[in-house]
Amino acid sequence: MVAVKKAAVEKKGKVVLAYSGGLDTSVAIPWLMDQGYDVVTMTADVGQQADNMDEMNEKAIKTGAVSAHMLDLRDEMIDNFIWPGLKANALYEGIYPLNSAYSRPLIAQALISIAQQEGAVAIAHGCTGKGQDQVRIEVCANALDPSIQVLAPVRDWHMTREQEMEYAEKHNVPVPTTRMSPYSLDDNLWGRACECGVLEDPWNKPPKGAYGLTVDPLEAPDKPALVEITFEKGIPVAIDGKKMNSIKLIDHLNKLAGDHGVGRIDMVENRLVGFKSREVYECPAAVTLITAHKALETITLTKDVMRVKGDLDRKFSELAYEGCWFSPLMDAIQAFIDKTQETVSGTVRVQFYKGQAVVEGMKSPNAIYRYDLATYSEGDTFDHAASVGFIKVWGLPIKTWTQTHNKGKIVFKSSIKDSKLAQKKPPKA
Ligand code: ARG
Repeated sequence: MVAVKKAAVEKKGKVVLAYSGGLDTSVAIPWLMDQGYDVVTMTADVGQQADNMDEMNEKAIKTGAVSAHMLDLRDEMIDNFIWPGLKANALYEGIYPLNSAYSRPLIAQALISIAQQEGAVAIAHGCTGKGQDQVRIEVCANALDPSIQVLAPVRDWHMTREQEMEYAEKHNVPVPTTRMSPYSLDDNLWGRACECGVLEDPWNKPPKGAYGLTVDPLEAPDKPALVEITFEKGIPVAIDGKKMNSIKLIDHLNKLAGDHGVGRIDMVENRLVGFKSREVYECPAAVTLITAHKALETITLTKDVMRVKGDLDRKFSELAYEGCWFSPLMDAIQAFIDKTQETVSGTVRVQFYKGQAVVEGMKSPNAIYRYDLATYSEGDTFDHAASVGFIKVWGLPIKTWTQTHNKGKIVFKSSIKDSKLAQKKPPKA
């Protein structure tokens, strides 16, 4: 075979690559260089369980990057994504706490900000063409700075695993030494997502190895644990009366609740990209905090605010899931939710036991729960007599309907077969 001399590639400028040190984003460095880019890497610490974080920059440079950035984004993640999500009791389709969904707009922010700093023309991510993480990163990046191009090497290169390994070897890419997981994993402070492999058949029970943060509820301690969580304006600030910074507080709850098997979620979700997928999540702190926060709202918010907020909470979750974090609707919804949280302060007591986090007590200086109105015992101040007129007016439209349409004669739709009847015997004559 005649060796073909490679044509010199046109120089394109800098690209900022979201780099995790895994195979895909490692191979992306020489691949982007082959396309004519100088590669700058950005690695984000969002609280994931990686033990080689401090070697990341060095590794990126060794692989060919011109510069490498390592950003601790944990506080950013909590203050700007996790706490707003908690205030919204955000659960996609009522179940998924959005852990992976929150980190993508944040990663997009970090990529764009480094790109501006470095004078880069593009950013790049390692998502495939099938997930929603690509949608989130790209929609968010375009919302932040449409002048910066977004590249998705893994989506474009059409290489199999084997070809990727070969490419890595040819380009002296240090291949990850950790064993490849049979799953696609993603984790941060708010939880862990596990998909693919045997989980793709929804009839299969997730194997033990699919879990990484929680104990099997069947093997959880026989003794329950109690925790008191204090909230200020919708945000948790103390555990068992002790003030705690946000990272510590979330870590603490992940450990304690996880040890009791709390936070396992196994669901089939409706993806934005059109198909359903089976997901296994572990979110001990998220499940605990959302449960407690929701409870605190029941004693601090009015019925009508709770109802409208419930609708907007659901919309918030959909926007977060679907990549619309930096949208005018999201801003407006967050402004509404923030207003509602002004009174959501107090303490909630939660019990962890065999996979369950159950609220067993709550109190608030702002409680609009009133003992004197609720009690059936001594001290009742509720005006019982006022109910008479209230019922008359409340039921009037329905009563009027029945009177107009003469429907009052049939009470049961079908006859009652098993009724028993006893009657007093008439006195003997
Ligand atoms: N399905 C979830 C979501 O879209 C989790 C995605 C996790 N990402 C991953 N690469 N495993 O939010």
